[in-house]
Amino acid sequence: MSSLTNGTNGASNGSASHFDENAIRIALAAVQDPDIGQTLGALGAIHNVEIEGATIKAYLLLHAPLHFAAERINAACREAVKRVAANARIEIFVQEKMPERPQNRPLANVKHLIAIASGKGGVGKSTIAANLAAALARKGATVGLIDADIHGPSVPTMFDLEEEELRGTKNEQGQFIGHPMEKYGVKLVSMGFVMARDQAAIMRGPMQAGYLNTFIEQIEWGALDYLLFDLPPGTGDIQLTMAQRVPLTGAVIVTTPQNLALADVRRGISMFNRVNIPTLGVIENMSYYALPDGSRDYIFGQGGGEKIAKEMNAPFLGELPLNVNVRKGGDDGMPVVLNDHAPLQQRAIMELAEKLAAEVRRRSALGQQTPTVQIAI
Ligand SMILES: Nc1ncnc2c1ncn2[C@@H]1O[C@H](COP(=O)(O)OP(=O)(O)OP(=O)(O)O)[C@@H](O)[C@H]1O
Ligand SMILES: [Mg+2]
Repeated sequence: MSSLTNGTNGASNGSASHFDENAIRIALAAVQDPDIGQTLGALGAIHNVEIEGATIKAYLLLHAPLHFAAERINAACREAVKRVAANARIEIFVQEKMPERPQNRPLANVKHLIAIASGKGGVGKSTIAANLAAALARKGATVGLIDADIHGPSVPTMFDLEEEELRGTKNEQGQFIGHPMEKYGVKLVSMGFVMARDQAAIMRGPMQAGYLNTFIEQIEWGALDYLLFDLPPGTGDIQLTMAQRVPLTGAVIVTTPQNLALADVRRGISMFNRVNIPTLGVIENMSYYALPDGSRDYIFGQGGGEKIAKEMNAPFLGELPLNVNVRKGGDDGMPVVLNDHAPLQQRAIMELAEKLAAEVRRRSALGQQTPTVQIAI
């Protein structure tokens, strides 16, 4: 890894290079960022180009998160440079443009905070949250998942950690600092690690919100690319606490296609709108059931997710059909995206994660003012 250097002095060895630095810069500037829909030139992404003998080094500044985008941008840049410098050895260095975060606040080292929500119960929020977290970790991101469903925690079952208890240490001020559990590369905290289900179920709203604060402020999350929040259904205290305490990048809204779900989902999206939390996208779960003959049974109706995304002016991230492997993954404690014997479901969820990452990048590009920089690759 090489760090960024300032200045635009290209042929640093002083000898006349047969590569045209200006042509290389122009070629790179014309490359499209696939997620943001603008050229690297327009995005100010080309920090420097250096020519050292037969080697061309391009230094790029790109919006995070890059786990899915890096390969594609890298390939497009190489192709562009090759066209104007056929036999060059090409090295591309990337640094991430970081989203702005208020410092000295909890979660200051977490790049993207995303709530997985829906106005409606039982639509698959927890299933989607667990699978997105595992999918992002599988792609190399550092990921945490807060099970904010304090009444009915799902994370212990979905990650096969039912016997686990939250452990921690006291800091210098004598305050308890909890260590998240870790499974499949995902850092996890759940009410299920703190108290038994039947005890949790009788907690009142303000107490629940208090626990969520503890999960945010008194857990040693460290540096994360993503922290996902698996929210309970509805629009109560927990959702309000989220809006007030957590600098959310946005919310992912999960729905099933049926009209009954859509009405609740609309209410959910409106609540996030009211507190200025953007909707990063809509995921339609249980979209259909694939029959053995290849036809589809649209058990809950058809097209509801796309319809509501359009109506709410939010991106449609995709769908996950009803499938026994998805349900089993939840019950057996291994998200289906990690199950190589379920390639269709695996692909569907990886695509949802990729679309989500793309939308986070797009939003961060739209909202970016003065980037701070951290080395990524
Ligand atoms: N695509 C799917 N295919 C098959 N089963 C699914 C699918 N999605 C979710 N399920 C199953 O449906 C049930 C409800 O899912 P889940 O617990 O994720 O919903 P939820 O929205 O989090 O519910 P709650 O509102 O209670 O928190 C679970 O048993 C889960 O395994
Ligand atoms: Mg749930």
